Amino acid sequence: MTKKTIVVTGGAGFIGSNFVYYMLNKYPDYRIVCVDCLTYAGNLSTLKTALENPNFRFEKLNICDYDAIKNLFEEEKPDIVVNFAAESHVDRSIKNPDIFVKTNISGTQTLMDVCRELNVPRFHQVSTDEVYGDLPLDRPDLFFTEKTPVHASSPYSASKAGADLLVLAYYRTFNFPATISRCSNNYGPYHFPEKLIPLMIINALNDKPLPVYGDGKNVRDWLYVEDHCKAIDLIIHSNKLGEVYNVGGHNEMANIDIVKLILGKLKKPESLITFVEDRKGHDRRYAIDPTKIHDELGWLPETKFADGIEKTIDWYLNNKSWWEEIISGEYKNYYSKMYGEN
Ligand code: NAD
Ligand code: DAU
Repeated sequence: MTKKTIVVTGGAGFIGSNFVYYMLNKYPDYRIVCVDCLTYAGNLSTLKTALENPNFRFEKLNICDYDAIKNLFEEEKPDIVVNFAAESHVDRSIKNPDIFVKTNISGTQTLMDVCRELNVPRFHQVSTDEVYGDLPLDRPDLFFTEKTPVHASSPYSASKAGADLLVLAYYRTFNFPATISRCSNNYGPYHFPEKLIPLMIINALNDKPLPVYGDGKNVRDWLYVEDHCKAIDLIIHSNKLGEVYNVGGHNEMANIDIVKLILGKLKKPESLITFVEDRKGHDRRYAIDPTKIHDELGWLPETKFADGIEKTIDWYLNNKSWWEEIISGEYKNYYSKMYGEN
């Protein structure tokens, strides 16, 4: 494999950091340059081991800062830019949409403009299945394909959809060498504690109530984070341009079933489950049809949910200091505003 320099934006967050470790491990000759402005969701301790690797560089930069990004790219001359950087939490987008538009849309545009100016040969946008809106619970035969119209429900998903449209417009208008992946819900190590699976594991371990929105029957299509990293690796090493790939492993589960499974694994009582007010505009069901990425690039998910959830729970049990530090800081204020004092 020819040596490459890859810029990974948002690499101090959940999926970006897993991608950094995946790439450093799989391509020992590659240079990985992480750009992250370390919002509440970015954590430098997550990259502790990567920072010891001479092929890894971290730069605390905002993707909306054109000059800073341009200086870095001029110096590093990346072969590929993979954009994970985003505001990613639906609940926060309902409380404060503004930063979602800035980071997710303007930030993507800034990165693409720098890439165009410096002729960076490849750009990949990490997007989400949420851009398709949702599917009804009573139509299990329906799935999101790449041809499903974009139809976002939350400020978060609308901002991701806006970025996708810009990427596709840059491809068509400027022949900008870009691809997009739209993945379903990920889970695994370094998942920020505000998201469903880590929140439920941590609350169960602390014997705190497990807040389930609405009736708990909303369905998500869960994929182990490493399988998502493998899909992006395949896409950026292919010669496909202007393409969108859906990524998901046909693993649909209702929230309440995930919560009960976690309680069972941790031997905690179901009486900890508390049904709380529903999320505004709550998407009912996500379900990905991954036929295109399988047929064109040979991608298939490798980790079964039963194994992935075991590994994930073990990771949270073995890495308490990582999440205890997060939940003792600024996160405390978010939690009490979102769920009350409990
Ligand atoms: P995350 O919130 O855990 O991490 C986001 C990272 O981006 C953080 O490190 C944060 O500091 C950084 N960041 C935010 N704003 C920035 C800015 N302006 N400049 C530089 N860095 C900035 O998110 P995640 O769950 O790892 O998601 C990563 C990407 O994958 C996002 O684009 C998200 O939309 C997409 N995605 C996530 C999932 C999922 O299940 N988590 C599924 C599909 C797609
Ligand atoms: O589908 C991909 C998307 O998955 C990504 O684009 C987003 O960045 C990522 O955050 C995730 O979005 P969701 O909204 O699906 O994930 P979240 O973990 O916030 O919620 C999953 C489900 O669990 C959802 O139906 C809401 C519900 N939920 C969530 C929380 C935090 C609860 O019932 N209680 C909770 O406390």
